[in-house]
Amino acid sequence: MNSILNNRPELAREVNKVAEVAGYLWQKGWAERNGGNITVNVTEYVDDEIRQMPAISEVFPIGLTLPHLKGCYFYCKGTNMRMRDLARWPMDNGSIIRILDDCASYVIIADHPVKPTSELPSHLSVHNYLIGKGSPYKASVHTHPIELVAMSHAQKFLEKDVLTKLLWSMIPETKAFCPRGLGIIPYKMAGSMDLAEATIQELGDYDVVMWEKHGVFAVDGDVMQAFDQIDVLNKSALIYIAAKNMGFEPDGMSDEQMKEMTVAFNLPK
Ligand code: 13P
Ligand code: ZN
Repeated sequence: MNSILNNRPELAREVNKVAEVAGYLWQKGWAERNGGNITVNVTEYVDDEIRQMPAISEVFPIGLTLPHLKGCYFYCKGTNMRMRDLARWPMDNGSIIRILDDCASYVIIADHPVKPTSELPSHLSVHNYLIGKGSPYKASVHTHPIELVAMSHAQKFLEKDVLTKLLWSMIPETKAFCPRGLGIIPYKMAGSMDLAEATIQELGDYDVVMWEKHGVFAVDGDVMQAFDQIDVLNKSALIYIAAKNMGFEPDGMSDEQMKEMTVAFNLPK
């Protein structure tokens, strides 16, 4: 099969990592039907031949103007595509897009004209924001982790940093591997510009944000690392819920213990 990934091992490696993570999301039960989406900035793996490739789609508007994305390339999960299918066939259930010079529209260049995720405004706004601040982060993951979403149905967990502190205190690794905690975004319509705007605001302070009663959105250097941040947070949620199911409120690590590991791991306060 003629694929853009052929003879491009670095690009293939990034796309294959997306496929691996898509499999984990399905196995965890976080990716019902077409739930969740992933985009990766693959511009650094794009050669001159790719830059010359003609579009295989019409020109689509992004809905926003994103000045830092001019000439950038992204692998995007397709809208309505299943993570469990993407895990096996990433180039049939996602595609690579090129942002046009107006910074407000894109075309699909490979392998098939699979229309990108409905959450593209949020994903691309975030990539634009990351490039603008010189961040090395290249991947964004949106998924529907069961226990974290369940917790977002209680107002007490939606106050600033309440959930962050609770989840960090369940097991030392959570703060170590999700050191900026979990930001909270009050409920907004899926796929909306409002949600995109609120997401970039919140990512100023957090690498993972909760979309109330919907899911989480994480950014990191690559897709595996973004997945890991969500995974450690959801593990803490599971520990909390396991304790509650045994009939008691978990003590959580003490302030002293939190402080000790913050220093030991050289983490931000
Ligand atoms: P897409 O299938 O368009 O990626 O949408 C899935 C989703 O989770 C929307 O929030
Ligand atoms: Zn969603």
